[in-house]
Amino acid sequence: MILVTGGAGYVGSHCVLALLGNGYDVVIFDNLELGHIETVETLKSIQASGKVIDFIQGDLKNLSDIQNVFKKHEIEVVVHFAAYSQVAESMKNPQKYFSNNVDGTVNLLKSMIENGVKRIVFSSTAATYGEPIYTPIDENHPQKPINPYGETKLKIEKIMDEYDKSFNLKSVRLRYFNVAGADNRARIGEWHEPETHLIPNILKSTFGCGKTFQMFGTDYDTIDGTCVRDYINVEDLAKAHVLALDYLEKGGETNFFNLGTNNGNSVKEVFSVCEKVTGEKIPVDIQPRREGDPAILVADNQKAKKVLGWVPEKTLEDSILSAYNWAKKLSK
Ligand SMILES: NC(=O)c1ccc[n+]([C@@H]2O[C@H](COP(=O)([O-])OP(=O)(O)OC[C@H]3O[C@@H](n4cnc5c(N)ncnc54)[C@H](O)[C@@H]3O)[C@@H](O)[C@H]2O)c1
Repeated sequence: MILVTGGAGYVGSHCVLALLGNGYDVVIFDNLELGHIETVETLKSIQASGKVIDFIQGDLKNLSDIQNVFKKHEIEVVVHFAAYSQVAESMKNPQKYFSNNVDGTVNLLKSMIENGVKRIVFSSTAATYGEPIYTPIDENHPQKPINPYGETKLKIEKIMDEYDKSFNLKSVRLRYFNVAGADNRARIGEWHEPETHLIPNILKSTFGCGKTFQMFGTDYDTIDGTCVRDYINVEDLAKAHVLALDYLEKGGETNFFNLGTNNGNSVKEVFSVCEKVTGEKIPVDIQPRREGDPAILVADNQKAKKVLGWVPEKTLEDSILSAYNWAKKLSK
């Protein structure tokens, strides 16, 4: 049985779908603070026949909540998504982030060790690198986060190193770049409130809803003056988690991988693909730069390709089309 923390959230739920498709039994643990019970219900209704899917509502900040999961199920391996992940909020309230992300993970690791569970795949982030000193960013790039959110994820990576030394706990840390898209059949998708990610925010200004999309900064040193990011499709990302589990199952050592496409797209490029996919002229309002947005963040993904055998296949247009189909469903 695989324990998926945060499986009612955006990336976690797509990963649960991929795990079920690959024959795993899954227990989802989530406090539903940011995730959705409707997502869990959808996952239960589409589970592969014969596969077990259980949902346990609980909070990682309460040690006994997570200990009870290990009492109820024989967990072999953990995939850990549960966290807060809004950069701006983390700058206003760092304590909230250290408490939930770091303390919550320590509770999880403690429960794992108590129960002899020694493998974990962890959602880390490009935010652990901070301001890039070169691009594309490979895994040897210095990790110097510039906000508390990135700092919590880096701290967790370091704690996992210590757990390896002391308890032989093997971790794979997947450092995501910008995750995009939805299930290609629009059964699940990105559902954040508030939404801070670019593509769903552009799409929110469609459907004739009268909202104007705000574009921050058009004077960066990039191809068209807007920020460049590496948009990795959520289904491609989910496949990397399945490969990371295979890697650990085969006795792989603690490791860390960038998950991105090796390609960047500017905000203006993303915006114009959104207009093409939706067939709408989307209202836009140009604003000054926001503080703390690096000009370019692009992953060097060679290591994940070589070691895990991961090949991201979806294009930016695929991600935007699936996100649009999901957004249409969500707006009804
Ligand atoms: N979405 C991205 O672009 C992106 C990029 C880099 C890294 N990440 C990381 O990926 C992971 C998933 O991100 P997401 O976009 O799916 O976020 P999300 O908010 O959609 O999902 C997180 C889930 O964790 C749950 N959760 C949070 N704290 C919890 C706690 N203490 N106990 C139990 N459940 C808890 C929430 O209810 C939610 O369902 C996060 O760790 C995030 O830092 C995401």
